[in-house]
Amino acid sequence: MLSIKNLHVAYGQSEVVHDISFEAQPRQVTAIMGKNGMGKSTLMKSIIGVIQPKSGSVTIDGTEVQDWDSCKRVGAGIAYVPQGRQIFSKLTVEENILSGLNPRSPNKADLMRDAYSMFNVLYDMRKRKGGNLSGGQQQQLAIARALVSEPKVLILDEPTEGIQPSIIKDIARLLNQIKLAKNLSIIVTEQVLSFTIDIADHMYVIESGRFIHSDDKGSINEEKIKGYLSV
Ligand SMILES: Nc1ncnc2c1ncn2[C@@H]1O[C@H](COP(=O)(O)OP(=O)(O)OP(=O)(O)O)[C@@H](O)[C@H]1O
Ligand SMILES: [Mg+2]
Repeated sequence: MLSIKNLHVAYGQSEVVHDISFEAQPRQVTAIMGKNGMGKSTLMKSIIGVIQPKSGSVTIDGTEVQDWDSCKRVGAGIAYVPQGRQIFSKLTVEENILSGLNPRSPNKADLMRDAYSMFNVLYDMRKRKGGNLSGGQQQQLAIARALVSEPKVLILDEPTEGIQPSIIKDIARLLNQIKLAKNLSIIVTEQVLSFTIDIADHMYVIESGRFIHSDDKGSINEEKIKGYLSV
């Protein structure tokens, strides 16, 4: 389980995430929705350790990791798919996935086989350069690269950004499958409400760095959330 308590994150003097607390459970998807500039990426970066929080705690299975660098947090079981995907465009698809593997993992071949069975398109394109894939394929590649690190918690920052509806549906189906198959806790930021409703067990709305609303699956107040997301 991942637990975030009283997290404050700042760029220099400017605090953009204020006193955020939530818990993410195994086999559950926690979605954080909010408009542009509300602090979604900043919050995700501070959970994986790309940015160190100013104060507050990030705890995974009882271990506080908020002072650890991001490599060490990956070792503790947190994986991160950044906004805009950021795959290695000059490396092949296969090399991109391999880059996510823990070099000490005893079951590398199984993990690669698993990744290709989840994403057939990546197997077909395994020799191609990552930069030559479509946006949707790159998103799948970024998810595959994150999953081969065998995470307990998978963080996805706006995975549907710039992706066509049919691939969005594929990603939703996949996330619903793997959260159960791999006992994963998934934390996702989003602006696309239909996708979020397809996957979320719990939903928060972030505005100016604060959670201002939360709903659980089955009682999601769509009209209210649409209001928060409209510009
Ligand atoms: N490196 C940075 N230095 C200073 N301010 C930053 C930096 N990155 C983001 N910000 C500011 O922090 C605030 C939150 O940005 P953040 O990227 O977390 O928003 P977001 O919700 O992810 O937005 P989007 O939906 O556009 O990705 C914004 O006001 C942004 O301008
Ligand atoms: Mg963002």
